Amino acid sequence: MKRTHKNGELRIENVNEHVDLIGWVAKKRNFGQLVFIDLRDRWGICQLVFGEQFADRLKEVKNEYLLSVSGTVCKRQAANPDLKTGEIEVKVDDFSIINTAKTTPIIIADETDALEDTRLQYRYLDLRRPVMQQKLLMRHQITKSMREYLDNHDFVEIETPMLGKSTPEGARDYLVPSRVHPGSFYALPQSPQLYKQLLMISGFERYYQFARCFRDEDLRADRQTDFTQVDIETSFLSQDEIIDFTEEMLVKLMKDVKGIDVPRPFLRLTYKEAMNRFGSDKPDNRFGMELQELTPIFTDSQFQVFKNCIESNGSIKGIVVNDFAHITRKEIDKWTELAKKNGAKGLVTLKAKDGTLTGSAAKFLSEKEINDLYSQLNLKENDVLFIVSDKWNKTCNALGALRNGIASELGLKHKDEFSYLWVVDFPMFDWSEEEQRWVACHHPFTQPKEEDIPLLDTDLGSVRSNAYDIILNGYELGGGSLRIYDNELQTKIFELLGLSDEDIRTKFGFFVDAFQYGTPPHGGLAFGLDRIAMILTESDSIRDDIAVPKNANAKCPMSKAPTPVDNKQLKDLHIQIIKD
Ligand code: AMO
Repeated sequence: MKRTHKNGELRIENVNEHVDLIGWVAKKRNFGQLVFIDLRDRWGICQLVFGEQFADRLKEVKNEYLLSVSGTVCKRQAANPDLKTGEIEVKVDDFSIINTAKTTPIIIADETDALEDTRLQYRYLDLRRPVMQQKLLMRHQITKSMREYLDNHDFVEIETPMLGKSTPEGARDYLVPSRVHPGSFYALPQSPQLYKQLLMISGFERYYQFARCFRDEDLRADRQTDFTQVDIETSFLSQDEIIDFTEEMLVKLMKDVKGIDVPRPFLRLTYKEAMNRFGSDKPDNRFGMELQELTPIFTDSQFQVFKNCIESNGSIKGIVVNDFAHITRKEIDKWTELAKKNGAKGLVTLKAKDGTLTGSAAKFLSEKEINDLYSQLNLKENDVLFIVSDKWNKTCNALGALRNGIASELGLKHKDEFSYLWVVDFPMFDWSEEEQRWVACHHPFTQPKEEDIPLLDTDLGSVRSNAYDIILNGYELGGGSLRIYDNELQTKIFELLGLSDEDIRTKFGFFVDAFQYGTPPHGGLAFGLDRIAMILTESDSIRDDIAVPKNANAKCPMSKAPTPVDNKQLKDLHIQIIKD
């Protein structure tokens, strides 16, 4: 099995060289006396030409057979501009079959019509497809670039336990029963949050880890049960300094991996501004259609829906979609459904036609209101104005979802465009309708803004935190915060979150204890590596950038995990299965 070159590496300069290659048969074509084979490996494809002396032996060679060949590089009569090796071919003088292959259940080519579950069932073959190999190779480039940056800036990589204690990220834990301690469980880490803070107390100052994290939550295109964070923590740095080095690392990443110069500083939006302008705390600003504030126009509205909203201190906003007036009743229903799914009670749709507004709500608008809309929004013929009126956050969320949905439909989300931005000044607390209590927006160790600390006693909903998210193309790529390092303040936050002394001791006892030994001011963030890979490889789902992902149903179609285990294993773990 000699190999002098990789497939994909030979060029016109190699003509007349004698070479040895190894690879899988990607394609075999018979041309009378001659047989052509495209030989594939990780580095590309090389065309082989076999003379008639091989005709008999080649009969048994099929796609995906693994061959070892030797031959001479020749110039092709007609070059193939689509292949890097398109100017040459290798005239084979000897070959052997290293291994045979059954007919594959999916076609090994970039384009596939195989169902995702079939691809995942035969993932080892799916990953043989060049397009998939490119994605995982780019993922490797991403980790390499980030690791290089961190190494060069004094960060030290430290591993933290997989079998640990529940962490505060807020999803459901994956639990691992202890054989040695009947009835006790380890939790797989949702993130290394507590450990990395402890490492700051230990004095490492700059930590990172490519950390496997586990969260039992409903899966989506950008979520997996087990995923990887590029987890970072630092001591003695301000929020601006953390943002600064993060940008530097991402600029290097974009240059290394995509060859793109991303301008700095990245746009920075406060949470309020992001919601007001884009209706999202992870705005996609590759396209316009920003939300417009319409409340002042409707302060004296006679339209009952708007009137009620004004009276209850709500917010009326809209988005304008240019040249959209061709949409049908059915399409309007579809957009209304989307707004409703995202919390709106309804959606007002108005079309700009012949200098006025048409639509079922138009008759409730006064001439002044219509004129004001025209002048404030600079409406043009055939524009469509969508309006939502509700509580501020509901109005923003519903219109944000609509803005995203329409942009997707209009093809405004260009995958080869990369727009980074920060969202800062998140609220410290969210009101949970379900639990009827305040919950931490980020996690309970997040530092409130110093100027908002007095509000902890008066107005929890208005307290902002030193938390920040880095957004790319409408995805939350990463998030972090400065942490509380003052024991008294931490205790107060725990109390406000409704944690009793006993809760604090059982959940975070070791952590709170550690804080009494000279804790440095510290803060950090974590990136979702799978999400970075998804966006930079221009994929639709993070499943495409993970070697062996779970399907949307949290199953692995290849290994069939999770599977039942035998009774002996359960007994060892002191576990009994209760059937519902
Ligand atoms: P957070 O929970 O925001 O913060 O997570 C950080 C980043 O991890 C990615 N991420 C995921 N990726 C894939 N599948 C998932 N299920 C999933 N959940 C999260 C996202 C997200 O931005 N310890 C804090 C960070 C800190 O404060 O330093 C944390 O985990 O890209």
